[in-house]
Amino acid sequence: MARFAVFASGRGSNFIEIHRFFKNTAHTLVALITDKPGCPAADYAREHSIPLIAVQYGKRNREEAEREILEKLEQFMPIDLFVLAGFMRLLTPLFVNRFPNKIINIHPSLLPKYPGAHAISESYASRDTMLGVTIHYVDTGMDTGEIIVQEQFERGPGQSIEEVESIIHSIEHRLYPQVILSIVSELEKQEALH
Ligand code: GAR
Repeated sequence: MARFAVFASGRGSNFIEIHRFFKNTAHTLVALITDKPGCPAADYAREHSIPLIAVQYGKRNREEAEREILEKLEQFMPIDLFVLAGFMRLLTPLFVNRFPNKIINIHPSLLPKYPGAHAISESYASRDTMLGVTIHYVDTGMDTGEIIVQEQFERGPGQSIEEVESIIHSIEHRLYPQVILSIVSELEKQEALH
C-alpha cells in the first residue's frame, strides 16, 4: 500500500481523476498541496475532505515556500510518491533532492518540445502533425526530467485549439492514474511499503 500526495495550482481536472481512480484501491492519496488556496483543485479537496496543504509563495523565494510545504507535510509522512498535476511552480533542489525519483509530472506536449506553461498553445501554433502528452520524473529544470511515457495523436485537419485541448486532457485523465498505479505497484515490489 503506497501513500502519495498531489500538487496542483488550477482547475484540478487531473487531480480529480486521480482521486476518483485511487478511491477504490489500497493506495492512499494523503494530501493535496497547492500554492493557490482559492483554486478549483483546492475547493475539490475541501469538498471531498482530502487534507489540503495551502502554501502561498508571495514574494518569498521558492526555497522558503518549500520549507513551509515540507514542515506541513511532516504529519503525512511517509510519502512514497509526489504527483505534480498542473502545479505551475518549479521545485528547487531543496525539495527535489530530498525525494530522488519520487516526483513525477504530466505535461501537455511531446517533450522536449514546448516545455513551460504554454505547451498547448505552442504545440497548436506549430505545424507539428503529431501532438501529445508526456509523463516524466521531475528534476530541477523546466520539464526536463527523465521521460517515463509519452502518448501521441495525429492532429486532424482543421481541428480547433479547443478540440486539441480536449483530446490532450482526455489522454491525460486516462494515462496519469494508470502510470501512477504502475509506479506505486513497482515501488511496492521493490521496497516493503508500510
Ligand atoms: C494539464 O494539462 C497539465 O498537463 C498542465 O496543466 C494542466 C493542468 O490541468 N501542466 C503543465 O503545463 C505543466 N508544465 P488540470 O489543473 O485541469 O489538471
